[in-house]
Amino acid sequence: MSLRTIFYSLPSSWRFLARRLYYLPTDWWELAAGKRAPLQPPKGLIYTGGGDFLKEGSRLLERFVRIGGLQPHHQVLDIGSGIGRVAIPMTPYLNKRGFYEGFDVVELGVRWCQEHISRRFPNFQFQYVPLANDLYRKDGTDAATFHFPYGENQFDFVIANSVFTHMLPKEVDNYLKEIQRVLKPGGKCYATFFILNAASISLMAEQPDFQFRHDHGHYRLFDEKVKAANVAFEEDYLIRELLNANQLKAVETHYGYWCGRNKEACEDFQDFVLVEKLKSL
Ligand SMILES: C[S@@+](CC[C@H](N)C(=O)[O-])C[C@H]1O[C@@H](n2cnc3c(N)ncnc32)[C@H](O)[C@@H]1O
Repeated sequence: MSLRTIFYSLPSSWRFLARRLYYLPTDWWELAAGKRAPLQPPKGLIYTGGGDFLKEGSRLLERFVRIGGLQPHHQVLDIGSGIGRVAIPMTPYLNKRGFYEGFDVVELGVRWCQEHISRRFPNFQFQYVPLANDLYRKDGTDAATFHFPYGENQFDFVIANSVFTHMLPKEVDNYLKEIQRVLKPGGKCYATFFILNAASISLMAEQPDFQFRHDHGHYRLFDEKVKAANVAFEEDYLIRELLNANQLKAVETHYGYWCGRNKEACEDFQDFVLVEKLKSL
């Protein structure tokens, strides 16, 4: 059993507590020595993944501009806004006409962002939505029927970074329908996935640590007990049944190194797709 599998097997509240305790000495020291940037959460609260939190956020912003065409006056929606990794580097980027909305199912992250980001930058708003996700919380309502609390054609740019990799097909289908509704005509969406195709399946077979062993036809799970731990989608199903069927078009796909591709040749660990709204449904 890998460390990752053991970590996923813990109840989500234990995982949050374990992280808090593990980083407590570092977090105290950083606070006492004034080593933490003003808009940087303590390490023990960063439940959204490893790596250098601020650098990773800046890297994402650079990519949204370079590949996604994000502009400072844009209206931005960040689905699964976590604890502000995407929002923080955007605070000096968006201008007075620009606006950022984020929502997430983990209250701790949303409250931190409201307190630390929205207070200083009122054009950054965050909402807590108590939806079920067995990786992040023990209860909640069904994301497959969730109606985004925004109007039609409201956003120029929608982000789902490392979110659909933790959601099941019916939920992703509903979210893509909602993205189509809230995107302006010509608007773009940046979304990450684990994409299963002949190349990724064959490469993945050679690296035992990151495998999607549980085959459900057009999608596979990393862990059968914690379904949202990691979810991978078969490429044809993703393009036709999830994107095209919801009047969304994949304009660019960049494959990641999660399955064992050469890291130097990839933009990121996960695959990402730049999606365009085709027309109103
Ligand atoms: C790996 S984290 C990524 C967070 C953030 N996008 C980032 O890049 O830092 C996945 C996030 O998705 C959120 N999430 C999971 N299910 C969700 C859902 N149905 N709707 C919105 N957010 C969800 C989790 O709470 C978590 O914050």
